[in-house]
Amino acid sequence: MMLRSLLSFSLVAVATAGVAQNPAADADRAAMMRALGITALIPGANGDPKAPDAASTDEATANPYPLPDALRTTDGRPVRTAAQWRDVQRPAIAAIYEREVYGRVPADLPPVRWHVDASDAETIGFGRAVTARRLIGEVADPRPGMPPVRLRMLVVLPARATAKVPVLMMFGPAAFPAPSQPTADESERIDAALKALLAERDPALKPIFARHQAHMLAGPAAPRRFDPTPSVPEQIIAAGWGYAMIDPLSAQADDGSGLRSGIIGLANGGAPRRPDQWGALRAWAWAASRGFDWLATDPAVDATRIGIEGVSRYGKAALVTMAFDPRFAVALLGSSGKGGTTPLRRHFGEEVGNLATGEYHWMAGNFLKYDTKGVSPPQLDASALPVDANGLIALCAPRPVYVSYGIPAAGDAPWLDQRGSWMATVDASRVYRLLGASGVADGDYRNMPMPAVLEARDAGELAWRQHDGGHTDAPNIPHFLTWADRVLKRVR
Ligand code: GCU
Repeated sequence: MMLRSLLSFSLVAVATAGVAQNPAADADRAAMMRALGITALIPGANGDPKAPDAASTDEATANPYPLPDALRTTDGRPVRTAAQWRDVQRPAIAAIYEREVYGRVPADLPPVRWHVDASDAETIGFGRAVTARRLIGEVADPRPGMPPVRLRMLVVLPARATAKVPVLMMFGPAAFPAPSQPTADESERIDAALKALLAERDPALKPIFARHQAHMLAGPAAPRRFDPTPSVPEQIIAAGWGYAMIDPLSAQADDGSGLRSGIIGLANGGAPRRPDQWGALRAWAWAASRGFDWLATDPAVDATRIGIEGVSRYGKAALVTMAFDPRFAVALLGSSGKGGTTPLRRHFGEEVGNLATGEYHWMAGNFLKYDTKGVSPPQLDASALPVDANGLIALCAPRPVYVSYGIPAAGDAPWLDQRGSWMATVDASRVYRLLGASGVADGDYRNMPMPAVLEARDAGELAWRQHDGGHTDAPNIPHFLTWADRVLKRVR
């Protein structure tokens, strides 16, 4: 009773704090809770280790439930052959993830029409010529009055490739990497034209320009300074790959108050979501798939070797992309944590309660049900889900997946639960093996020791490496590219 009232006090406190910050998102979540008969949610854990409600980092209590067996059907039958996996178990796991976790993509979405909006000949790093194109994907709007959705993607390919190139698609802003600058002659012409135009508008400017003839309104850019560490784009281009930046926020806002607009809102004609409909992670993955559609039409791109990459929330989105779009050949999943490669069942770091409250818009509405045990009907926690991260990773099998983390000491916080991801990756290896590929380790996920930091487990199609940096996958990029060329059987 005492616990119960303490709990409801903190629930109210959380709700009030939320109302002050994001009333539209809170109202939307409250409506979803009503639709599901949920009266309260368990608040998430706090990322601040000194807070009274700090996230647990106690390995002794981290595994209240075993992982569901990805090679056993929900009615208890073992999955023994690749055909059983393909025809029965994989579709069953995918269906549960769609209905209960990330949500379904509406069947009748309007088509996306891509066009090249700007094209630039650029030089990345020192002397690597690339062609950079910015694309806009117009989503035809079937209902008047809805704000249009315009996907943004940047495609950067090596300029002098002699064969089709593999492409790594990454979640992030579609910004040109190294916009080409006008030459000195071009700058002088632009400057003269600008001055003439301004003087026409305001003749009093003429004597001012005359007094300061060396001052240029448009001058050539300052030469770039030498940077000894090659950037991620430079490393990708140097390896003979191209890359694409897909802007997730051009498809869907990272905010519950945006669920009635963006592609999710557009598909619903501005109405709130139904409990089984997609959240932002699935919408971001959808944008990546639409980007793939365009890449596959470019004769310079090797469409059999297009990968997907993301870090943190976009690491989750990259995993969702790879799991649900079998055309993607390879994935690099950076520090993806809960909702990514880390099991929802683990009681360590970020909790289901975080995903179901502050980040509920990432998930399907139905996911809120798994944050109610002890506080509201339907009284469920993650153990009521017959699937978990091991099965989600397995949806990608046998296609190559590289699981990347950094270390807490350098800023990749315990919040992300690196060990939990290792456990799920070890267990998913069983499915890779069943399908004739290989994983990170052969044995029981519960006691398989974690590889040392910097030790790559990359002999197979499912790979793992914890670098010694922070919340980024950049230090793993060279390892990923070498591994990807090998498992994708590409000759450099
Ligand atoms: C928060 C969130 C994580 C997410 C991270 C990020 O910490 O709780 O789930 O991975 O943001 O995207 O940086």
